[in-house]
Amino acid sequence: MCGIVGYVGTENAVDVIISSLKKLEYRGYDSAGVTILNGDLETYKTVGKISELEKIIPAGFTGHIGIGHTRWATHGKPETRNSHPHLSSNIAVVHNGIIENYMFLKEKLMEQGYEFVSDTDTEVIAHLLHRTMKDSERCSLLDAVRHIMTEIEGSYAIAVLCTDEPDHIVLARKDSPLVIGLGDKGYFAASDVPAFLRYTRNAVYVNDKELVLISPKGVEFYNNDGQRIEKQVDIIEWNEEAAEKAGYEHFMLKEIHEQPTSIQATYAGKISELEGRVILDELKMDEDQLRNLQRVTIIACGTSWNAGCVGKYLFENLAGIHTDIETASEFRYGDPILCGQVFTLAITQSGETADTLAAIRSSRSYGCKAASITNVVGSTITRETDSVLFTRAGPEIGVAATKTFTAQLIVLYLMAIHIGTVRGRLTPETARDILVGIKQLPGQVQKILNNKDAIKKCAEHYAKVQDYFFIGRHLNYPISLEGALKLKEISYIHAEGYAAGELKHGPLALISSATPVVAIATKGHTYDKVLSNIKEVKARSAEVIAVANESDTEINKYVDRVLRIPDCHELLSPVLSSVVLQLLAYYTALARDCSIDKPRNLAKSVTVE
Ligand code: F6R
Repeated sequence: MCGIVGYVGTENAVDVIISSLKKLEYRGYDSAGVTILNGDLETYKTVGKISELEKIIPAGFTGHIGIGHTRWATHGKPETRNSHPHLSSNIAVVHNGIIENYMFLKEKLMEQGYEFVSDTDTEVIAHLLHRTMKDSERCSLLDAVRHIMTEIEGSYAIAVLCTDEPDHIVLARKDSPLVIGLGDKGYFAASDVPAFLRYTRNAVYVNDKELVLISPKGVEFYNNDGQRIEKQVDIIEWNEEAAEKAGYEHFMLKEIHEQPTSIQATYAGKISELEGRVILDELKMDEDQLRNLQRVTIIACGTSWNAGCVGKYLFENLAGIHTDIETASEFRYGDPILCGQVFTLAITQSGETADTLAAIRSSRSYGCKAASITNVVGSTITRETDSVLFTRAGPEIGVAATKTFTAQLIVLYLMAIHIGTVRGRLTPETARDILVGIKQLPGQVQKILNNKDAIKKCAEHYAKVQDYFFIGRHLNYPISLEGALKLKEISYIHAEGYAAGELKHGPLALISSATPVVAIATKGHTYDKVLSNIKEVKARSAEVIAVANESDTEINKYVDRVLRIPDCHELLSPVLSSVVLQLLAYYTALARDCSIDKPRNLAKSVTVE
């Protein structure tokens, strides 16, 4: 996730762009930049927040047309040369999204003599536009953008300036947000409305494959065939704070709703469905190394640890490798039995968790190859591990991890399928089945979000209880741990996640009519066993809330309430069930009037022991 802005009008474009970028900092804040078109392109960019950018802009720098960017790194570290705008001679581009085929395009452009100064995917857009306009003398910037949209694959919202056409900005989008603001003192373009709310409330949402040209004379919208189209103007009712959360009451709810996009962005460009394989160039291990692997040790904390538990099942089931899951704070002071054939994998959203960093350093002292899964490009873990696999969830502001958890699961599926295929454990057909299922997840998550009222009602019904139990088996066991963790951290209700088969070894003594039990009872090879556990707790008067598949009509006979997930591949249900449990925790905390985005005693990044 990044934020783009553009402005044409009578105000000082530098001031407008800086104030707009500040409103988009929630989308990314590792570097920022601005280009103003004053005859030539004048560009300032730097690593850090918008306040850092302000420091390097000289006093008196003004203009009336410009573009800006606030970055959340995906390709290339947070360095000035990787910051936007990216330039190709007389063209400047800002971009939000991911160009999936950028390596292929980059190689072609380099053969044609283009020199690249950054590691980003965006720079190919600037050079492609330059090449297109150079190849055809009468090609306008608008036509050039339309042309390159047939070459680039992936997601994008782009804003482009060209000195040959100095009075306008051209914009286009596919799968990344773009909205236009119509003001008295000019026209605005941005990834999100908070960017321009202080100037205007009149907004036009741009749809996929549409193009926009904004100039001092007005705004023109075009379809993919280059024909002018009319668009509806919406009046935005939100205040600025509500707008930053896209109208959601909390960042957590907004981030839960971003999961269709964050899941899609995380697997984008990594799945070859046709061949039934995963493209995982980031994993710097060749096929022989993967074949010879003896053991995987996953190291993490909190929610990332729960994702790691799912990873253990996946690596053992799909890749046939013995896998251990270790709590970082314990591992670092333990006496691990490790050697060079063990592969250690750190999972950390922030990339800065002190215990996880210390544990991974300790594992490397035994000669282990180390990889990491993280959401933050440039974080410490990226320098401490041989391979880095990024979740592409964008910044997560709510303290409770939601979209980064499901994105971590996606990376774990991709890794397990990749390693399993290389080791001959998975046939391309089996791999394809799961990969097709992964591509259905964004739509299925959306379906859960569309039907969230049932989850809200359930949460409100039980909001006053003091204790909750979450149970599940196999892959659903770590999801029960995650469901309980989400509930306790934001609603302050005591909650326990348990392996369903373990209940009778002690905790059953705590079950009564006052302890609702959430049973994750999705279809799979342990379904019948979970039904037996449901009967056990029902016999002790507990009310049972089942998380079950849509087509499961049998479950209604045994439980008090059912929260549904779409039917899916058995191995993929953890992604869908965890969205249901995130909403259950959220609405419970809301009903209890808790501080949802900043729960007491907790911090987003735990950089101390
Ligand atoms: C819970 C939560 C924490 C983190 C944990 C590890 O919602 O967010 O449990 O998962 O502090 O953080 P990272 O993943 O940044 O290492």
